[in-house]
This record gives sequence, structure tokens and C-alpha cells, in this order.
Amino acid sequence: MKNIIIIPAIAALALAACGSENEAQPSTQGSAPTPGEKVAPAPTEKTPESLADQGRKRFSATCTVCHTVNDGDPSRVGPNLFGIVGKTAGASDDFAYSDAVANAEIVWTEENLDAFIENPQTFLRGNRMAFAGERNAENRAAIIVYLKTLK
Ligand code: HEC
Repeated sequence: MKNIIIIPAIAALALAACGSENEAQPSTQGSAPTPGEKVAPAPTEKTPESLADQGRKRFSATCTVCHTVNDGDPSRVGPNLFGIVGKTAGASDDFAYSDAVANAEIVWTEENLDAFIENPQTFLRGNRMAFAGERNAENRAAIIVYLKTLK
């Protein structure tokens, strides 16, 4: 007499458990972000990593033709830029600088780099960096974030 009552009760519980499990799935999927929504942080909220990546791409497009970046790489048309942020201007041993850079007696702070990259013709007049200048402030900032990673 007892078994007859208990068995259907267990079966009912098991069914209920199954049922709620199945119902749970669609709602979980519904709240998951779609692939498009997942990524894309707001453009204003760039992480240091994404800025450095942007800078690396910009550097590749505009500076790599003349500059190497790895420790010990030979200089090209321009000097190797490993560790350039915080370094004294004209300090690469294997590069023949112009007097303008060799005698500049400045340190490549972020501010100096920004001014130089914006317009190499007017910062350290008489230097030989034949580059028109990166006029986009955001690109310059990204390039400098990237240069800071070269250490
Ligand atoms: C056409 C070749 C050329 C391009 C392109 C170029 N540079 Fe240069 N760069 C030079 C040369 C040459 C010098 C050395 C200038 C001198 O001695 O007067 C130099 C010097 C520098 C220096 C000073 C290095 C030191 O040791 O004091 C920095 C920093 C620099 N470049 C950064 C950049 C960045 C960043 C870019 C890209 C936005 C860039 N350059 C693009 C040729 C180039």
C-alpha cells in the first residue's frame, strides 16, 4: 500500500525536475549576448592594450619603413627605437645623427615625442627625419603608448 503512493510521487518529482531543466535552457540562451553585442566597448573606453595595438598598427604603416623596434636590431634610415620613451635624444651608438638631434640635449618624454611626431620639420629644426608628420592627435597618442611597450 505504501509503495503505490510513493512511486508515483517520485516519478512526478523526476518529471518536474526534467521539465524545469528544459524550460531553463531557452531563457539562458535568451539572455546571452548575441555575437555582435558581445565585443565593442564604447569607443571612448579604450584599454591600454587596445591603444597600444592601434599604435602598433599606425607605427607599422608610417614608421617601420625607417625604424626598427626590437632590442639589438640594426638602425635603418632612422635609428632603432627600442626603449625610446625616456631616453636621451641622439643616443643610439650605431646611428649617425644630424647635429640637430645629436646636440639637442633633450629627453624623449611623451610631450617631446608628441611634438616631434606631429611635425618633425619644426621640432628640432634641421633634423633629418624625412617624415611629413602625424597630424592626428589620437594616432600620435596611440603610437606613444605603443612606443612605451618597447622596453
Ligand atoms: C623617412 C624615414 C623616417 C620615417 C618615416 C620616420 N622616421 Fe623617425 N627618424 C628618421 C631619421 C633619419 C631620424 C634621425 C634624425 C636626425 O638625426 O636628424 C629619426 C629619428 C627619430 C627619433 C629620435 C630617435 C633618437 O634616438 O633620438 C624618433 C623618436 C623617431 N624618429 C620616431 C619616429 C616615429 C614614431 C615615426 C612614425 C610616426 C617616424 N620616426 C618616422 C627617419 C624616419
